[in-house]
Amino acid sequence: MPEINGCRICNSEELHLVLDYGMMPLVNNLNDGEEPETYPLKLVLCPDCGLVQITETVPPEKLFSEYYYFSSQSQTMLEHSKKLVKELSKNLDKYSLVIEIASNDGYLLQYYDVPVLGIEPASNVAEVAIKKAIPTLVEFFSVDLANELRSQGVLADVVHAHNVLAHVADLHGFVEGMKLILKPEGLIVIEVPYLRNLIDGCEFDTVYHEHLCYFSIRPLVKLFKLHGLEIVDLQTLKIHGGSLRLYVKHETDYGNFTERADEVKDKLRELLFRLKKEGKRIVAYGAAAKGNVLLKYCGIDSEIIDYVVDSTPAKQGKYMPGLGLRIYHPEKLKEVKPDYILILAWNFADEIMEKESWFGGGFIIPNPLRIC
Ligand code: TYD
Repeated sequence: MPEINGCRICNSEELHLVLDYGMMPLVNNLNDGEEPETYPLKLVLCPDCGLVQITETVPPEKLFSEYYYFSSQSQTMLEHSKKLVKELSKNLDKYSLVIEIASNDGYLLQYYDVPVLGIEPASNVAEVAIKKAIPTLVEFFSVDLANELRSQGVLADVVHAHNVLAHVADLHGFVEGMKLILKPEGLIVIEVPYLRNLIDGCEFDTVYHEHLCYFSIRPLVKLFKLHGLEIVDLQTLKIHGGSLRLYVKHETDYGNFTERADEVKDKLRELLFRLKKEGKRIVAYGAAAKGNVLLKYCGIDSEIIDYVVDSTPAKQGKYMPGLGLRIYHPEKLKEVKPDYILILAWNFADEIMEKESWFGGGFIIPNPLRIC
């Protein structure tokens, strides 16, 4: 029986014992009463990355080929899935693709009305999904399968992996595979039982050979980082005695931030200089700190902008530093009427445009640049 040599995430060899269960049968392999095979069950903690895991890896074929867990049996699971699909569907259309790894009997994918693909190795469970007309590959997910899908142009907007990460011996292969089938702007949604709940609630009976790993946030951050992925949001859920839902994306690319900032700058300068040349009067709205940064970075000052208005009494009568722009009460707009108002406090653009809806000229919002 393969016993791990080190932590499944960071390979650290110094693993600390948390609980020794002794010898245990494969508890989901229901049988006809014969004496079952037993395997050691030992829960350990990796002090380096924080991953809690069991030391034995039972070959997955022994555990998952014929499977007795049908997710659709639970109304709680169905409700939970339906709600999530509704939320995610807001950003999807008929050109999207949703892939679920360990799609079980189609309990989740059945709620989507965009193209879906399930991947489920337990043939008796996958069959139920296929009968419901949910396209399903009856295979274990791996880097090889991910590469095959990728080479066929099968890339996902959303990849679901719910209650499967804990079952995976080759975590790195699995996560790399998810990355390979994810579109550049795609989203991976992962649900795992949360170690905190297991420990706090003394849920020691949720440890068995199917569950190789017991996740908390720190080791997951490390695992994804190693594959160029990052957690962009997370929630704690009540389901399965307490779970974590992670939203994961390709790592942010900081490399072209300067180019993108300069693009904002160039577009804004081009517009304002052109309007000024045409003899238009331009003022700015909101003496916000970010407004000062924007104008400074773009090299726009009192040559282009006549004045600034802001509703904050304490700011009125002062100048925006380094720009030579005096701040007035918004009533000034009616006295010295501009043709355009550049909204510097773009975080309140809707509120400002609503408030000044009498204004007949154009509101310029700097990023993305538009005139309303
Ligand atoms: P703020 O959101 O505090 O941005 P920063 O953190 O970059 O300084 O700035 C918003 C500014 O806009 C603030 O000075 C108040 C002003 N403001 C108005 O003048 N009128 C409005 O209707 C609103 C909503 C804000």
